[in-house]
Amino acid sequence: MKTINQDNIWSISSFLENKKYNFSKESILHVLPAKDIDEAYKTISKWNNYSPTPLIHLNKLTEKLKFNKIFYKDESNRFNLKSFKALGGAYAVEKVTKGNKDMVVSTATAGNHGRSVAWGSKKLGLKCKIFISEYVSEFRAKVMRSFGADVIRVKGNYDNSLKECIKQSKQNNWQIVQDVAWHDYKLVPKLTMAGYSVMMKEISEQIKDEKISHVILQAGVGGMAAAMVAGIARYLDNVPKIIVVEPESAACVLESIKTGKIEKISIKKESLMGGMSCDEVSLVPWEILKNSTSHCVTVSDNCISKTVKSLANCEFSDEKIVGGECSTPGIISLVGMSKDTKIKKKINLNENSNVLLFGCEGDADEELYQKLLTA
Ligand SMILES: Cc1ncc(COP(=O)(O)O)c(C=O)c1O
Repeated sequence: MKTINQDNIWSISSFLENKKYNFSKESILHVLPAKDIDEAYKTISKWNNYSPTPLIHLNKLTEKLKFNKIFYKDESNRFNLKSFKALGGAYAVEKVTKGNKDMVVSTATAGNHGRSVAWGSKKLGLKCKIFISEYVSEFRAKVMRSFGADVIRVKGNYDNSLKECIKQSKQNNWQIVQDVAWHDYKLVPKLTMAGYSVMMKEISEQIKDEKISHVILQAGVGGMAAAMVAGIARYLDNVPKIIVVEPESAACVLESIKTGKIEKISIKKESLMGGMSCDEVSLVPWEILKNSTSHCVTVSDNCISKTVKSLANCEFSDEKIVGGECSTPGIISLVGMSKDTKIKKKINLNENSNVLLFGCEGDADEELYQKLLTA
């Protein structure tokens, strides 16, 4: 049987060094201030059933790749919503509605953000309208309905669902709670990012005296990645290499880093990593990512099923891990980069490295998860 290092299926599609790299704690915390980060932790840590999600050591993968440690932040059980997105949308709903019970909340979503907004609205007794594209699975729609949301399916892609959400929200005076920013809409996306930063607060306590040398951050519109960078600026006393990973078919951060300005790309084929299949980096995250990302990588969909199975079959760790499609690209890109000696050297990946990965979601789409497990 081939070892992970010999198997050619584990590979990256592209790799880019950021020529404008300049990690500035001050500029990062200017975009997402420490007081907003602290307020999010203060609020969310008081929610019912709050507890930090596990930071799992992928000891078997560490041994195979010959690093010091690989940490995996497992978000599969976050508030039973099965992804880190539970932290963002629900927090933003609470902050923008400020106890007003008459507001109707709306959003457009690839699935997990909407689930969080629907759950947050239900907790507060608010009506909720969720717009989804034709690519969002019926399973995900059902879960949002189970939280009492009206789910409205829109023809076309995510952009179409967002346009329809904005149009109907204006007509009906609904409060949009979106995780994507545009020129006069930045406050709510910042709140969602502040919510996500709770992950980094927990990690800073879970790693104890270890220092993270490399972090690989999945990006869709970049909110999660930028929130983690802000968390690094707020909570860590060292600066790891910050590597953003995207689907090869939706590399909007990589293309923007390449030219130094936001580039809208055209998605020819939607990735299986639905939450990351985005064509344009959001404004607020871009302000953070443009200088603090040290490298960008992309991966294809080829290895997703294999990674989901390996996580479930304890091939990477002693524990069984339920990791959905968006939980895989950190591992895929790490193995891919490890096999390229030039890249390894360039980014100092070696036996002293402590790598941090994000298991962003569990079986949030149970039907897709089962397909990936049995593919
Ligand atoms: C489940 C899921 N949805 C969405 C995203 C993308 O987050 P963002 O759009 O904030 O970059 C990720 C990132 O990895 C994810 O795992």
